[in-house]
Amino acid sequence: MVRYTATDDEQEEILQREYMEKAALHVAALEKELGRAPKGCVVTFGCQMNARDSEKLSGILAKIGYTLTESEEDADLVLYNTCTVRDNANQRVYGRLGYLNSLKKKKSHLRVILCGCMMQEASVIDKIKKSYRFVDLLFGTHNIFKFAQLLVTMYENQEMIVDIWQETDQIVEKLPVNRKYFYKSGINIMFGCNNFCSYCIVPYVRGRERSRDPKEILREIERLVDDGVVEIMLLGQNVNSYGKNLEEPITFAALLREVEKIEGLKRIRFMTSHPKDLSDELIAVMRDSKKICRHLHLPVQAGSNRILQAMNRKYTKEQYLSLVDKIRTAIPDMSITTDIIVGFPGETLADVEETMDVVRKVQYDNAFTFIYSKRTGTPAAAMEDQVPEAVVKEGFDKLLKVVQDTARERAALLQGKVLEALVEEVNDQDASLVTGRLSNNMLVHFPADASMIGKIVKVSLDTCHGFYYTGHIVD
Ligand code: SAH
Ligand code: SF4
Ligand code: F3S
Repeated sequence: MVRYTATDDEQEEILQREYMEKAALHVAALEKELGRAPKGCVVTFGCQMNARDSEKLSGILAKIGYTLTESEEDADLVLYNTCTVRDNANQRVYGRLGYLNSLKKKKSHLRVILCGCMMQEASVIDKIKKSYRFVDLLFGTHNIFKFAQLLVTMYENQEMIVDIWQETDQIVEKLPVNRKYFYKSGINIMFGCNNFCSYCIVPYVRGRERSRDPKEILREIERLVDDGVVEIMLLGQNVNSYGKNLEEPITFAALLREVEKIEGLKRIRFMTSHPKDLSDELIAVMRDSKKICRHLHLPVQAGSNRILQAMNRKYTKEQYLSLVDKIRTAIPDMSITTDIIVGFPGETLADVEETMDVVRKVQYDNAFTFIYSKRTGTPAAAMEDQVPEAVVKEGFDKLLKVVQDTARERAALLQGKVLEALVEEVNDQDASLVTGRLSNNMLVHFPADASMIGKIVKVSLDTCHGFYYTGHIVD
């Protein structure tokens, strides 16, 4: 086990840059041996936080001399940034590790690295040490800023390197980042979660809630805008509680007001909002903003008060519905999406009916529906009445139908309207089209070329195809 003592954030940045230089020497030696630049492949599982972390990890790989590739087969270094929110995420990683083992047998210099949320679980580390001995480096969510240093340790040692921290109070952000899109970017405003919803592993693997200094956030966004970014997504597990624990407390709404002032920034998104902390101040800021997108992701998880209480969500169905009412009254064109879990311990089909009732009343623009997955160590895992698979499946199918019908109806409402879309990419099915994202997060495909990527254009939404539109640019 390698353990490093923490220094202060700025010193840490200097230290990590030194390690990048050292790591670059190792990569240069490998390049000489291979006769070409080594290739690095970063695969991301899970949420936007992990996606952002992966941009930081790829940034360091690129900085020390790796050419980035999306193909594990071509790569000389493969890094999996893992998720453990549901068991199927873990199973996918184990499945792909089997494949990496076969690759490593053919290519002995291949380096395999695992990091992210799954690595914060002791049982996972034990399993990898026992059954996946070919892995070179394991680290968790709290020390990703040490990546360069960990790489050097890996290059200089033969055995598997394991470095998992339980917590950190460090926020080291000014390291190289390899942004996936030049025109939009995620930005961490807080880390961790204090909510302990009874089904959820995130607080255990991401640690306690910590907010970043607002000045640092604003400076980072300014830098991104200077670099061509027009849309940002403020990231946190519960952005509505942003700033509460800072030395000089500030609300999320107040932060948004400051972000709005940044010149050149066109669109602001954020994720995720916990309903219990969504303030009237935030609704007012969203209503008055020219930049905050008309999309709110407001996970409800369940509609039955008994289940909501057992989930420790801290709101009732009625409170949730009245919050939605308040938002829709203030901002009628706000699109609302949600997350729902089916099959929480003790949930009956009558409870699922309550959830369907919420879906019908709220009229979600989209809902991500998940089957409950038992996460060892969470309070819900120890609850007795786990729901039989057949009952879960029946509830899930019924719910999914209501969700899809509602979303389709909502989508169709925009037919014929002209709205602004940010052009994101050339359509991968038809190169004469590009794909744009509306403020409400829906996609629209229309004729244009790659030169339009990153621009915001007015598009007529001619035909609704269920969950997306086709249209044309309007001058
Ligand atoms: N912080 C966010 C959610 C992060 S996890 C929030 O509070 O809304 C993303 C989603 O995964 C959750 O909203 C929930 O619907 C789902 N999820 C979390 N734990 C789960 C579990 N054990 N089984 C199934 N779905 C789960
Ligand atoms: Fe998990 Fe709840 Fe925290 Fe979201 S708010 S990350 S669901 S514990
Ligand atoms: Fe998964 Fe970790 Fe995100 S568990 S959902 S990647 S915070």
